[in-house]
Amino acid sequence: MGEAVYPVPAQWAANALVDEARYFEMYRQSVEDPEGFWAEHGKRLDWIRPFTKVKNTSFHEADFGIRWFEDGTLNLSANCLDRHLATRGDQVAILWEPDGLDEPHRAITYRELHEDVCRFANLLKSRGVKRGERVTIYLPMVPEAAVAMLACARIGAIHSIVFAGFSPDALAGRIIDCDSRIVLTADEGLRGGRKVPLKANVDEALQQCPGVDSVIVLRRTGASVNVVEGRDVDWATGIAAQSVECAPEEMGAEDPLFILYTSGSTGKPKGVLHTTGGYSVWASMTHQYVFDYRPGQIYWCAADIGWVTGHSYVVYGPLMNGATTVMFEGVPNFPDPSRFWQVVDKFQVEIFYGAPTALRALMREGDEWVTKTSRQSLRLLGSVGEPINPEAWEWYHKVVGDSRCPIVDTWWQTETGAAMITPLPGATPLKPGSASRPFFGVKPALVDNDGTFLEGATDGCLVITDSWPGQMRTVWGDHERFFQTYFSTFKGLYFTGDGCRRDEDGYHWITGRIDDVINVSGHRMGTAEIESALVAHAKVAEAAVVGMPHDIKGQGIYAFVTCNAEVQPDEALRKELIQWVRHEIGPIATPDVIQFAPGLPKTRSGKIMRRILRKIGENDVSNLGDTSTLADPSVVDNLLANRPQLA
Ligand code: PRX
Repeated sequence: MGEAVYPVPAQWAANALVDEARYFEMYRQSVEDPEGFWAEHGKRLDWIRPFTKVKNTSFHEADFGIRWFEDGTLNLSANCLDRHLATRGDQVAILWEPDGLDEPHRAITYRELHEDVCRFANLLKSRGVKRGERVTIYLPMVPEAAVAMLACARIGAIHSIVFAGFSPDALAGRIIDCDSRIVLTADEGLRGGRKVPLKANVDEALQQCPGVDSVIVLRRTGASVNVVEGRDVDWATGIAAQSVECAPEEMGAEDPLFILYTSGSTGKPKGVLHTTGGYSVWASMTHQYVFDYRPGQIYWCAADIGWVTGHSYVVYGPLMNGATTVMFEGVPNFPDPSRFWQVVDKFQVEIFYGAPTALRALMREGDEWVTKTSRQSLRLLGSVGEPINPEAWEWYHKVVGDSRCPIVDTWWQTETGAAMITPLPGATPLKPGSASRPFFGVKPALVDNDGTFLEGATDGCLVITDSWPGQMRTVWGDHERFFQTYFSTFKGLYFTGDGCRRDEDGYHWITGRIDDVINVSGHRMGTAEIESALVAHAKVAEAAVVGMPHDIKGQGIYAFVTCNAEVQPDEALRKELIQWVRHEIGPIATPDVIQFAPGLPKTRSGKIMRRILRKIGENDVSNLGDTSTLADPSVVDNLLANRPQLA
């Protein structure tokens, strides 16, 4: 294909944890002898009772189950905090940069973080939170969010973080699904200078959640908020009287650690459940090898804790490895598009890990915002969440990294816990746009639609043929859905939902979702969720949503809407529907295009032919494929004739 290849820089090959030869050697061992490999690497954690069993997994219906290190016990918060106190208690654990420039940053040492976590854990206990109970976290990007996560892990409570950009309705759905009795929030969040009414959102959500009896409210902006006596507790007041000692609970490796809701192709978002031992091994090991991480280095993952990247690579992975992890409250272009790189200079960040959508938005603003900063501290860059197009990759490499820093393009999913297919900076020659090769223990394969394995350079559906320690264990409350969603399409294989091309060098090029999931600015959404939000509007009879190419967001949201018979669709209704979806789900689900359609293309049996709608969304209408099964072909002509003019 004539793609560019960037060889591993000599100093990286010489100094990295693994060079190319060592990568192949370790990879071979990891797939030929997973028991031996993980018995050795599982020891990277502090176990309370060391495991004697390593891997006990099957993707087959008859004996389906995923268990790793199952007889070991440990505590993740102790692995993130207590184990570092003797050697790096005074090292900064979290460097927090606020949204605006008018506030000071915060630097919290491991010792201080340990105290904060113990205090907060004791506050949770005083509110009756027990081991195994679900704690919903709806907080902005502030250090207290990490404190809350670690405190849950310390006492064995299961956290469920809901992204602070989600609507009250979306929050309520997640609280109800996991039957959570306690919610942690802030008065308001701050993003790009704008205030987000988090406490008011919680109050609205809780009208649907009578089971919630405790809300702990952090003061972030100091705004006055409604206080419900007996239910609401002020964070600072609550922790003031608490002890700074809290013994970590001894958790089984397979005890639940957290739930994180994510979108699939059908139904409501599902609660992805990760357990303690395997996830911790996976998050810490990938963080160390993918970023070639050495303790003490300043590391910044610019993801929100509301997404899995924030869980594994802002909080847990780095802290297990004794990192100084940067936490940024704001957005890349506030107060101006130099902000990321100013923060890099301010903290002398060595490793920066971000999302392609942010890079594309910054690239459009021009190079000067970048080049006027130094960025001399940077040595490694990372990309995550969606395919990075080669243009954005080249810009990231040349302009941000001064052609000096390797880029690790990490492919993974909420379900996989942490990185799966990724370059290692000292071992992998880079091809812009390719996530390259599997991490240790990951066995990717490509299959056709019938599940036949495809060999050599080819395109196919990406599956993983064997378990890895960080794999999700179930869908909260619906184990059958877990099996059906991931292991029934191709029997005995984990189906990722992604399409992939593998080239002649065995490099993987993720081509995007092949199910009804779209990836908007790195945020994963089910088209079905947006459709059900639209049809919940009184004037809408039917809706179908597809992805469309978008220069900055990667994918945009294209909605076809059929109104009730008596309704005359107009511009005002279009605006109203856009606001409606924002209110129902959150601003990340804002439709880019709404096309009013008197009818949707359906088969004679009444099934919407999404393939045709996708083509229209992609503006690829010269060949719509087989339309012979359409009940009414004129519907398609009407859609084509009335496509909105796109900017
Ligand atoms: O389609 C893939 C895309 O994001 C999906 C997973 O989204 P989520 O569960 O929200 O996790 C995001 C954080 C890892 C995948 O199915 N994706 C993620 N990383 C990449 C990617 N697509 C291409 N290249 C990547 N590096």
